[in-house]
Amino acid sequence: MAIEGLQQAREEFEAVLAAAGSDAARIEEVRVRFAGRRSGLLRDLEDHLKTLPRDEKPAYGKALNELKRLVEERLAAAAEAASKAAAGERLDVTLPGRRPPVGSLHPVTLVRREIEEIFLRMGYSVADGPEVEDDWHNFEALNMPPDHPARDAQDTFYIPGGWLLRTHTSPVQIHTMEGQQPPIRVIIPGRVYRRDSDLRHSPMFHQVEGLVVDEGITFGHLKATLEAFVHVLFDPSLEVRFRPSFFPFTEPSAEVDITCVLCLGKGCGMCSGSGWIEILGSGMVDPRVFRACGVDPARYTGFAFGCGLDRVAVLKYRLPDLRMLFGGDERFLRQLGLGVKA
Ligand code: PHE
Repeated sequence: MAIEGLQQAREEFEAVLAAAGSDAARIEEVRVRFAGRRSGLLRDLEDHLKTLPRDEKPAYGKALNELKRLVEERLAAAAEAASKAAAGERLDVTLPGRRPPVGSLHPVTLVRREIEEIFLRMGYSVADGPEVEDDWHNFEALNMPPDHPARDAQDTFYIPGGWLLRTHTSPVQIHTMEGQQPPIRVIIPGRVYRRDSDLRHSPMFHQVEGLVVDEGITFGHLKATLEAFVHVLFDPSLEVRFRPSFFPFTEPSAEVDITCVLCLGKGCGMCSGSGWIEILGSGMVDPRVFRACGVDPARYTGFAFGCGLDRVAVLKYRLPDLRMLFGGDERFLRQLGLGVKA
């Protein structure tokens, strides 16, 4: 009699489980009803086992164990089938694929490449040099002896052991001339460092240096070269002006201004109302610099220039704060529309 009860329980379980199909909630209901720890049917059957006469116990116990195993296996299989079915429902093969995000080059990289390209077309080659420098290359060989007042303007980061972070790319002029005799035509992009941070300054920024040394190089070459450069980089309609200036390593020296690209000369916040934007420092290489590098100033002349790459990026992309370039915020790059997609 008792054993038949087990058979009946089994049939009922199978019927109810089949009816639940692949509905996870209904399968769970079946589990609670049959295998629930507190009040499941199997539990009741176990209680019933204890009440049986001793000689009936072994057969009933064995059948009950088999039933328990069967219930467990069927429930596990049904639950797995249900979760597979649910996953299958979520897979809609008609949905368009998700596009992988596409990155873009950083605005400073784009500007650097553009500038390199302009000078490569003029026959220059691209060079680089160390960011950690000694005093000789960053200052002394550039005609800035230890007590030279121009050092103050550079706000140098010093490193223990007599090293410093280069404050400009001009030390690479020295490395180049130490390693090679003229003719020289190089363009030198790179990171430079100064203790400075506000809307227009970042403690790390980028410059591109140019150096041309040969027989018979004149200020006329400098002027024509930089005018051509600025016109290709920005716009041929922009006015370019050369303003007398001073650098210890060039003589004579000139700073190069262009018509403000934002207000086209009317005067705005970007150009502090002047209508002009300073874009380059330049000049004829000072004979003392030649001598420091073993180049004969009686035979050779040359010109050099330095340009702030970040400044160019700020102007080209109309950025309100130069430090945005180095914030690492992907939303900023996306907004510039250089190619980053969400
Ligand atoms: N090194 C100068 C600076 O950082 C720029 C410069 C380079 C000027 C070459 C003249 C010649 O301001």
